Amino acid sequence: MKNQIKIRNRIKPFSKKIFVASDKSLSIRAILLSSIAIGKSNIYNLLESEDVYNALKVIKKLGVKFKKKKNFIEIYGVGINGFKLGSKIILDSGNSGTLARCVLGLCSSINKEIKLVGDKSLSKRDFSRVIEPLKLFGVKIKSKNGMLPVVSLGSNFLRPINYFEKKGSAQIKTCIILSAINTPGVTKIKSVRSRNHTELMLKNLNYPINIIKTKKYDLIQVTGLHNFNAFNYNIPGDISSASFFIVLTLLSKNSDLLIQNVNVNPSRVGIIAILNRMNAKIKIINKRKYKGELIGDIKIRSAKKLKSINCPENLNSSAIDEFILIFLVACKASGISSFKNLSELNKKESPRLDIAIKFMQMIGVKVVRKKDNIKVFGNPRLKLKGNYRVKNFIKDHRIFMMSTVAALTLGGTSWTIDDKDSIKTSFPTFLNILNKLGAKIN
Ligand code: S3P
Repeated sequence: MKNQIKIRNRIKPFSKKIFVASDKSLSIRAILLSSIAIGKSNIYNLLESEDVYNALKVIKKLGVKFKKKKNFIEIYGVGINGFKLGSKIILDSGNSGTLARCVLGLCSSINKEIKLVGDKSLSKRDFSRVIEPLKLFGVKIKSKNGMLPVVSLGSNFLRPINYFEKKGSAQIKTCIILSAINTPGVTKIKSVRSRNHTELMLKNLNYPINIIKTKKYDLIQVTGLHNFNAFNYNIPGDISSASFFIVLTLLSKNSDLLIQNVNVNPSRVGIIAILNRMNAKIKIINKRKYKGELIGDIKIRSAKKLKSINCPENLNSSAIDEFILIFLVACKASGISSFKNLSELNKKESPRLDIAIKFMQMIGVKVVRKKDNIKVFGNPRLKLKGNYRVKNFIKDHRIFMMSTVAALTLGGTSWTIDDKDSIKTSFPTFLNILNKLGAKIN
């Protein structure tokens, strides 16, 4: 079977309730933290995807046992510094940057060489961003040009660090927090705000982590070497996966959708804030708190009169995985939208800023780029004609799913989109849910 899909028709109006895949960030964090907890943790509704399976394979290589049950998984944590591993350990992170970067922090006190590898896409991504703080802790790290494969030799004599995390990257922040847990004393991180799931999970486990929010930064203090007990965690839906359906509904005619049980942590809902400023009228209802996280149901209707946005930069981190979808909406909005300082978009599973610009040009939308700033010239009457082909992006699930949403909403005679298998990393049921909404996909 071909690893591509064909779409010939827009999706017909729909009115439905759906659940999306479980949150990937929370699933990976729950696995890594339960691996160093004391005793048996039960994780319910873990995301079933390649990135998460790779996280399980990684902890297995570190000597952690787990058992899959019907709708949960039992993970037998070994405590801080409790990993037992043989020699010549190779950890394969597959496509997952989150797993790879966090695992380097998790392993900072292992005094054996560990080789970290990944797939073609991950092997093109930057690891110097975590190598730099880890070296300050006292970890010895070898890599060529700051990319995978990385060989890490942890230390029994780590020292706490003071670090300024300037990129607004939760992966860097989590790597440092995990290494701080292995380190005696207090590690201090000043961090441009980014998703805070690691901090919330640790706080909920009564781990000594302290966070002070200033206007621009989070000041985080982590006291090392405090063992914590195993825990239960029920993973809610992923806002990043929900976003494909948010934009699908907005750009479809006469449709409405309720996406139930989604993690709407304020550090993740930049897309809703941005789209609502573009006149989208998305609502979060039935809000409740779960272990520090905010959960809710998201209500969306087809949009009328979308307008352009001058996107505030302080929303960049909370919408980082959703910009390629926001650009699609900007293509259909009246006026010129502008987005600034999006260099991090090119550091993802593929260079998403470059690819999104090419994509918008392919569908006839004018885009002007200056360094990492772009202006999108929207056109509410945008009508596509002809055949479109999306190819040559390296294993990037979000490019595949964004293209599918475009094909189902913007028209055109036919669309052929490559690399269907990429959805296995984060959202294997994506096409099944589209099917339930009535999309015709071959
Ligand atoms: C993630 C953080 C983000 C995001 C990624 C998941 C996480 O990356 O793009 O999909 O779970 O910490 P950065 O922290 O590098 O921005």
